[in-house]
Parts: sequence; structure tokens; C-alpha cells
Amino acid sequence: MAEFTLPKNSKISGKGMKHAAPADAKRVKKFEVYRYDPDKGENPRYDTFEVDLDNCGPMVLDALIKMKGEQDSSLTFRRSCREGICGSCSMNIDGKNGLACTTAIEDVKGTVRITPLPHMEVIKDLVPDFTHFYAQYSSIKPWLQTVTPPPSGKERLQSPADREKLDGLYECILCACCSTSCPSYWWNSDKFLGPAILLQAYRWLADSRDEMTGDRLDELEDPFRLYRCHTIMNCANACPKGLSPAKAIAEIKKMEAERIV
Ligand code: SF4
Ligand code: SF4
Ligand code: FES
Repeated sequence: MAEFTLPKNSKISGKGMKHAAPADAKRVKKFEVYRYDPDKGENPRYDTFEVDLDNCGPMVLDALIKMKGEQDSSLTFRRSCREGICGSCSMNIDGKNGLACTTAIEDVKGTVRITPLPHMEVIKDLVPDFTHFYAQYSSIKPWLQTVTPPPSGKERLQSPADREKLDGLYECILCACCSTSCPSYWWNSDKFLGPAILLQAYRWLADSRDEMTGDRLDELEDPFRLYRCHTIMNCANACPKGLSPAKAIAEIKKMEAERIV
């Protein structure tokens, strides 16, 4: 059920802490970082961190690692690869969803405000709860499903042309930047699968080796699971990998329509 105001305990309140840069720092950048610790029983707040850019890597993730290492070890966020591959450092930076490891600090003018991905429950600081998102991912059975034995007895071959059909789909790193920027997903994420999961669903529909196309389309044919997408296109703007979930969703709708006629 859609909620149009934040619950009381989610509203930003109270003064945040200030972490100053070293006195001799010459190039100082200010970051306002969302902080929330469920164990403290306090509302969220913004802490201010001043970072000496002359002693920091170029990316927002470098700054977060520096803040955690040198200013406040309790600052909590996810990261792993630092190369835009694992999808774990997705967050909202200066009002736009993206990956902290591929967002350059110098591309953000003025103070850099960092918050968790929008419209997800927050576990702590910049770490949202992906439980529901992963359950939705699991629901589309994201693996190759076949009924016939492989022709060669070993592996299922695919022509280069069929393999090309997976371009623009297989690169998805499940960061959820798209889903959490989609208004339809904000209001109906309990039932609407959202752009990330639908792009993944199309990845298997488009795979020439998969033999469960009919079942997959049956599962998706639902006023909420698929048809809550109203082509608002926020998803394509948000994707840090340059993918277009909206296009994949349009392809699924086309497949659904073509099997009716
Ligand atoms: S195109 Fe569809 S999935 Fe993408 S943001 Fe819009 S409503 Fe959401
Ligand atoms: S489509 Fe893009 S934004 Fe969405 S989950 Fe995949 S990589 Fe992230
Ligand atoms: S740390 Fe892996 S995508 Fe940013």
C-alpha cells in the first residue's frame, strides 16, 4: 500500500555531527551523509564530513572509505569491486541514483549529499534492505530452463546473432538504481516487479536456448507484475551501466501481445 508521507521515525531530525578536515587541508570538499542507526532509537540525521581532496581518490566511494577510515568508523555502506561490476555501492548521490565507485567527486558541484537508495527500508546508514528485491528476482527464475536434452550431449550452442540479442541485458549488475528511481515501483513495489527484475526477466525470454518462454510469459502477464510500468523512463536515465529497462519491458509487452493475436 502506498504511503505518501514518511513514518514519524523516518523523518530527518536532530543536529548531525561535524567532522572537520585537517587544519592544513587546501582543497576541502563537504559531504552531507545520511546516518541512521536502528540500535540508537533516534531519527535519521545528516552528518557533515569535510574531506581533503588532495589526500583522497577521485570517486565518491574513495571519499566514503576515507571518512570511515579517518573520521567515523561507524559509517556503514556496501562496496566490493570498486569497478562498477558488483553493484553493491548503489546509493543516491546529489539527488541521483548511481554507483559511488563510478561517480567522480568533481562532477558534483558544491556539497555532496549522499542518501540510501530511495523508497527502500534502511538497515543502517547507506545500507538498504534488498530482501524483497532479491525475492522478486528469485520469482522470475533467473536461470536457463530447458526440457529437451542438449543436442550435442554437452552444451547448448547459440549462434552469434542469437547471442547478440542478450547485449544490453546481460550487463545488468542488479544494483537497483533503476527500480528505486521508478515512481510505479515506489508506490507498488509489493506487486510490481520493477524495471531491474523485468529487464532480467526479458534477459531469459530473449535467450534462444531457454525453452520455458510460455511459462515465463504466463507468470508476467498480470496487471501489476508487468503492466504497472507506464513508460516514465526514469529507469533508463538512472542506470549506471547505460541499459534501458524500459525498452526490455516494452519487448516483454510486445511478446505478450503477439501471442494473443
Ligand atoms: S519506464 Fe516503466 S519501469 Fe521505467 S521508470 Fe518508467 S514506469 Fe518505471
Ligand atoms: S538495469 Fe541498470 S540500474 Fe537497473 S539494476 Fe541493472 S544495472 Fe542497475
Ligand atoms: S563497489 Fe562494486 S559497483 Fe561500486
